Amino acid sequence: MDLIDSFGRTIRDLRLSVTDRCNFRCTYCMPEEGMQWLPRSEVLTFEEFERLARIFVERFGVDGLRLTGGEPTVRAHLPVLVRKLAQLRVPADSASPLAGHKPDLSITTNGATFRLLAHEFRDAGLDRVNISLDTLQPEKFLRITRRDDLARVLDGITAAQEAGFSPVKINVVVERGVNDDEIVDLARFGREIGAEVRFIEFMPLDASGHWLNEKVVGQDEIVAKVAAAFPLEPIPSRGAAPADRWRYLDGGGTVGVIPSVTKPFCGDCDRVRLTAEGQFRTCLFANDEFDLRAMMRADADDDQLAAEIQRAVGLKWAGHQINQVTFVRPSRTMSQIGG
Ligand code: 5AD
Ligand code: SF4
Repeated sequence: MDLIDSFGRTIRDLRLSVTDRCNFRCTYCMPEEGMQWLPRSEVLTFEEFERLARIFVERFGVDGLRLTGGEPTVRAHLPVLVRKLAQLRVPADSASPLAGHKPDLSITTNGATFRLLAHEFRDAGLDRVNISLDTLQPEKFLRITRRDDLARVLDGITAAQEAGFSPVKINVVVERGVNDDEIVDLARFGREIGAEVRFIEFMPLDASGHWLNEKVVGQDEIVAKVAAAFPLEPIPSRGAAPADRWRYLDGGGTVGVIPSVTKPFCGDCDRVRLTAEGQFRTCLFANDEFDLRAMMRADADDDQLAAEIQRAVGLKWAGHQINQVTFVRPSRTMSQIGG
């Protein structure tokens, strides 16, 4: 049975935040110090993640699972979880193109340790990798992430490609006055290495609360800058995927923009999220959470969990309202929700 919300959107994508911890401290996400990490006992075990993922995939036909964090790779033995998730099967009678197969398994990572893990992930059944890279300048990298790790991230990207992940995508959060001067350089970098760069509009999910509308560089401006250097044509229809995509006219590959702020794609959203401590959220910006961990630890059976998931999805709202005065910032940061 499909999970359909009250606006008729079918849920196909589940993001699992496997840890709230991170080895970076990106300014648009975390404070430099003072994050309160969850105690281990509050974080879901791999068995709990697997159990919930099984309900989403095998009962509800969710066909994409993405591992996020915090930084997912700081969770020890993560390929073990990937291997478990790769055993799941999308129902054979589902409308999904993956009916009868394993769900699409992907990860969003900062890439710093990916060199060490790429092959293990590949063997475990991971399909796709998105790596965050906001600048190509070492000093700026240090300023943004508060870690001097540009070389390791670049090497992590290479390692992901060498291990056979395809496509490898590069996520760039664009913040005015920080890295908007590098849009063309980053696009060029993606062309050179054969990776799709996806520019992400800065969203109000940073821990420090320094987000301001003026710091958002909108899709139109980003595309104009890229197109002036490398002419583009749009690729039609994105379906439920958040990125709008363009093709370089010279055959240099593709580039995307995730216009969360200037052109919200909530109307096509097929995503739901599970935080590291088992709170189910139907939107990045939701103010409500559903405590699936408490249910599991109080011995709820799969039918009860499934019913709660359906109830939550039934309450999924039409969309965030970043651009409206009624917008309320979620009390969690991106690292606590999971990108
Ligand atoms: N706005 C937009 N994207 C963000 N990310 C983290 N914080 C923000 C924010 N405030 C992105 C990261 C990564 C993904 C997990 O979310 O760059 O690509
Ligand atoms: Fe860590 Fe990602 Fe947040 Fe940066 S954006 S601090 S890499 S969780």
